[in-house]
Amino acid sequence: MPHPKPITLTYHLLQEDQVATRDHLEFSLLLSQITTAARIVAQELRRAGLAGMLGKTGTTNVQQEEVKKLDEFANETLIGACEESGLVFGAASEELAGPTHFPLHGRAGAAYAVLVDPLDGSSNTDVDGVLGSIFSIYRRRSLQGQGTDADLLRRGRELFAAGYILYGPSTMLVYSRGKGVHAFTLDPGVGQFFQSSYQIRMPAHGAVYSTNEGIRDRWESGVTEFIERLKSNDSPAGKPYSTRYTGCLTADFHRILLEGGVYIYPQVRGADGKFAGKLRLLYEASPLSYIAENAGGRGSTGRENVLDLEPASLHQRVGFILGSQAEVHLAEQIMSGVQSSGALPTAANGPVRPAVTAERITTARHKRARHQGR
Ligand code: AHG
Ligand code: MN
Ligand code: MN
Repeated sequence: MPHPKPITLTYHLLQEDQVATRDHLEFSLLLSQITTAARIVAQELRRAGLAGMLGKTGTTNVQQEEVKKLDEFANETLIGACEESGLVFGAASEELAGPTHFPLHGRAGAAYAVLVDPLDGSSNTDVDGVLGSIFSIYRRRSLQGQGTDADLLRRGRELFAAGYILYGPSTMLVYSRGKGVHAFTLDPGVGQFFQSSYQIRMPAHGAVYSTNEGIRDRWESGVTEFIERLKSNDSPAGKPYSTRYTGCLTADFHRILLEGGVYIYPQVRGADGKFAGKLRLLYEASPLSYIAENAGGRGSTGRENVLDLEPASLHQRVGFILGSQAEVHLAEQIMSGVQSSGALPTAANGPVRPAVTAERITTARHKRARHQGR
């Protein structure tokens, strides 16, 4: 069957560059390297069960997480592709302890830093579940001399571009360079990404939330109230939300990008009694917040916009809320206590709803329990 829209990624990139800027040419070359790496990773994932590539390597990464063989493969493939491009002076990855510099391959003036979560959702590798790769591209602050570690530690607001590859039933690329969000689907027979959506707009609200509710007893303050509100008729959708949680942020976000809703992995109380986030600011939260914002949504910690956070370290973790305006705004209001004190969300950010109070939540719980015969 012929392609309904035979626009390849290459054609799309050529069309986007009406004035032939050097920035755009370099971005196009770099994206081409990243998508080549993604095609190799996609191919490896398809045959991993046959090729002895499932399971763990037996080592742990800098974050004390067990490394899967596919984590290592995706990391080496993506980082290697960036190095070979000659445009990247250095990279950082969730799987590497420190920053990596490419003094030999980086041409004089190599202007870009790349940060990656090479395999997102890696608990899904051994159960044939959905996976992703997330990338962030920053331009060096100064083009004089060598790129430095400080060029890697950047606020999301300074992103030059970001994107992800989703390895699902089809392999998809979604990227933004600050002017809209575009999606491409890999035709494995042809070996090319074809444009499937141009200028994606995230709905102002959805009817789905994605979270690991099994750990709700350890969530930071306000999150339980927020989720209870989503499950009630007082939600931004005016009806109880459905839960969708894959264990892969990329996949959960992709649904939310297209259909609206919210992903939340808040700060969680650890064994030491301290609260900490799980998701990584630089490899996960910043790039996906950038894509969300370019599509009309937003990323937040519950207190501040993720893109405004000044990173203190490469592997810094944050509490993370990501999705449509209405839900992110509601989470911020409830978590900051504004809703409990009676203030309402503004009409601009979603339907105006009555304030959440402990009493309302308890009543909603009782109603649900009655309905379920408890
Ligand atoms: P990674 O596989 O890169 O370590 O990321 C996993 C992340 C995210 O993709 C997912 O939503 C979340 O961690 C799952 O964590 P839980 O298993 O704690 O729910
Ligand atoms: Mn991840
Ligand atoms: Mn990962």
